[in-house]
Amino acid sequence: MAAPSRPTTDEQTPVLEIEELHVTFRSRRRDVRAVRGVSLKVQRGEVLGIVGESGCGKSTTALAVTRLLPTTAEIVATRIRVAGVDLTSPSVRDLTKIRGAKVGMIFQDPTSSLNPSMTIGDQIAEPLRLHAGLGRAEAARAAAELLGRVGIADAQQRVGDYPHQLSGGQRQRVMIAIAVACTPDLILADEATTALDVTVQAEILDLLRGLQRDTGTALVFVSHDLGVVGDFADRVAVMYAGQIVELRDVRDLLSRPRHPYTAALLECAPRIGTARRLPTPILGGPPDLGRPVVGCAFRARCARVVERCATDDPGPELERIGAACWNPVSSVSQGSAS
Ligand SMILES: Nc1ncnc2c1ncn2[C@@H]1O[C@H](COP(=O)(O)OP(=O)(O)OP(=O)(O)O)[C@@H](O)[C@H]1O
Ligand code: SF4
Ligand SMILES: [Mg+2]
Repeated sequence: MAAPSRPTTDEQTPVLEIEELHVTFRSRRRDVRAVRGVSLKVQRGEVLGIVGESGCGKSTTALAVTRLLPTTAEIVATRIRVAGVDLTSPSVRDLTKIRGAKVGMIFQDPTSSLNPSMTIGDQIAEPLRLHAGLGRAEAARAAAELLGRVGIADAQQRVGDYPHQLSGGQRQRVMIAIAVACTPDLILADEATTALDVTVQAEILDLLRGLQRDTGTALVFVSHDLGVVGDFADRVAVMYAGQIVELRDVRDLLSRPRHPYTAALLECAPRIGTARRLPTPILGGPPDLGRPVVGCAFRARCARVVERCATDDPGPELERIGAACWNPVSSVSQGSAS
């Protein structure tokens, strides 16, 4: 089998740059500020995990990059750049160039992402014909090879199968084959293993990790499960109520969390939490993003709350200490964000 080719971006340019991203879902009844000032960079070959509980804006952030949000979503950003292409105000041409070619996407539910009336071989071959300019026969050969590389046995025979003939895990492998077909610079995986049972989940994670390492593709791995993310991300962004509240190297974040919300998430994850045997649920819920948030969005649930938490947004502290918090959990040496 030919060695996988490597993506095209040069070493220094971040593969993904997001600066001050805001996404608001507008409706006649109310506006929901789902993403409130997210900034992040992902370097070539890096795995960034994004974690946080349901509704905190993980998917909206990921989908805003490739503009796969409904028309009710208003996206405002100082900068969105993927592999050197400016997507802050993208043209249809830029988006076509980016989706599938420079960014591969894997979602939670492969059933709704795959076309039920098209063979899996044709679905894998499609981006190769569209973006890599391969002819029909060449793309079909490459599709069979990709199917084998993502671990489908008897790939040559299976290319003619339709999605309903595959198990959930196999369908997710097909999604991965489609996502990596054109050797993208970036893979966005949103809850890619959440719907699968534990054994299959582990196999798919291994596959993703292997492909990511072989190709040097950057990976943004979105999950509500800090245990899964902690296993293979290089850095982790913890989101809460539409903001990143902690963004640090994975080992530092897991061993010495700074934001009280990260610490609480770790307590809820028995596999990686420290001494506790029983997970402790985080009491209360996030604020209503249909209303303005004043001060820290976590304060109603926070045991470390201090006076200014009620009035001042701790967001700017993220860049300074790696956590958006006025009273962080672990002691922080001045100016250290790692
Ligand atoms: N199409 C939409 N229209 C209106 N509001 C939306 C839409 N999609 C998401 N939202 C709202 O935006 C906020 C962020 O949702 P998002 O799906 O990004 O969260 P998430 O972190 O991915 O959650 P989950 O872990 O459940 O996937 C939530 O309050 C959600 O209700
Ligand atoms: S800013 Fe205040 S309320 Fe928010 S997490 Fe930190 S200590 Fe808690
Ligand atoms: Mg989501």
